[in-house]
Amino acid sequence: MLRGCIVGCGAISTMHAMGINATEYGVIEAVCDIVPERADKAAKEYGCRALYSFEEVLSDPAIDVVHICTPHHLHVEMTVRALRAGKHVLQEKPVALSREELKILIEAEKETGKRVCVSLQTRSNAGIKKLFEIIKTDTSIGKLTGVTGVLVWNRGEAYYQKDGWRGRWTTEGGSLLCNQAIHTLDLMHYFAGPAKRVRAHIATNWWDDIIETEDTANALIEFESGVRGVFFGTNTYTSSSPAMIELDFEHARFRYADQALYRIDPQGHAECLQKDARKTPGKVVWGSGHPQLIYDFYQFLKEGKGTYLSLADALPSAMTLLSMYESGKAGNVWTDVSK
Ligand SMILES: NC(=O)c1ccc[n+]([C@@H]2O[C@H](COP(=O)([O-])OP(=O)(O)OC[C@H]3O[C@@H](n4cnc5c(N)ncnc54)[C@H](O)[C@@H]3O)[C@@H](O)[C@H]2O)c1
Repeated sequence: MLRGCIVGCGAISTMHAMGINATEYGVIEAVCDIVPERADKAAKEYGCRALYSFEEVLSDPAIDVVHICTPHHLHVEMTVRALRAGKHVLQEKPVALSREELKILIEAEKETGKRVCVSLQTRSNAGIKKLFEIIKTDTSIGKLTGVTGVLVWNRGEAYYQKDGWRGRWTTEGGSLLCNQAIHTLDLMHYFAGPAKRVRAHIATNWWDDIIETEDTANALIEFESGVRGVFFGTNTYTSSSPAMIELDFEHARFRYADQALYRIDPQGHAECLQKDARKTPGKVVWGSGHPQLIYDFYQFLKEGKGTYLSLADALPSAMTLLSMYESGKAGNVWTDVSK
């Protein structure tokens, strides 16, 4: 059995606990939070030990896999320290807040031989898996030419004021793009491959009294494959719907929306091909992918079989994300993604 430790006992930690408990390859050994009551509460719930500092996690030989579920600015530092302490890491998104951080992370994984899995769990949703399978097997659809990603959500005062790290460039590193839209951007890259260049607008259209980061963005993404990507996202709406992505092939069009996959005929009518799992213990918009993501990683580590969502898999969308911020901050200029 691999022994996991969840670091950061906030909102997303419950999905990690559920995921570890659901695999036959792992067990929750400990939880860690610098707020002792949060660690104690989680430890009681999962029947494991509570730790109150990351140093205790690093020096604990009984911990094999560290789950980084902390605020964004701590991700890379914590992941690198855990790798160097001989642990594997399941890191929440975003991967990194700068190109320098990204480089350090890649080097540390290479240098230590330990593994990093990134929590981009929407790839595990049933509708997305079905779409991937269709693309691999049905040559009649032709080549992919375009991909659209749309995310229209609500994030408000209560959300931003509950935890002080949100809405700040230094601690969240951005908002709409790196926190909410990263999954949508990741799906676009999952199907279209790495991007070549990007042109983005970022703005704080509504929440400018309470956050300094962006609540709205749009972008044009030119993929290396020649596919054209169009993205729009905002945190300023009155409610949140699951993200939508659309794939435009030479002879077919597919839309993943409202947690289901549709094929769109030339008249614009939609036929449902696959619905996602209905039971999602977390927020609906998180999807149902965490247990599968965690299962795949633990299985790979324990049995050496199957695949998992690796740092290399997460890199294309991570690099576009950083380029979108660079482009937006520079005033919507074309920005090379792999510079
Ligand atoms: N994959 C997803 O769909 C998804 C969904 C929600 C959140 N997330 C990600 O999960 C991460 C955490 O988000 P959240 O909403 O759970 O945040 P949160 O603020 O609810 O929880 C963060 C926790 O980390 C703890 N913490 C802070 N510094 C620490 C330290 N040095 N050592 C140990 N614990 C520390 C805090 O006390 C807090 O309990 C973020 O990266 C976020 O983007 C991912």
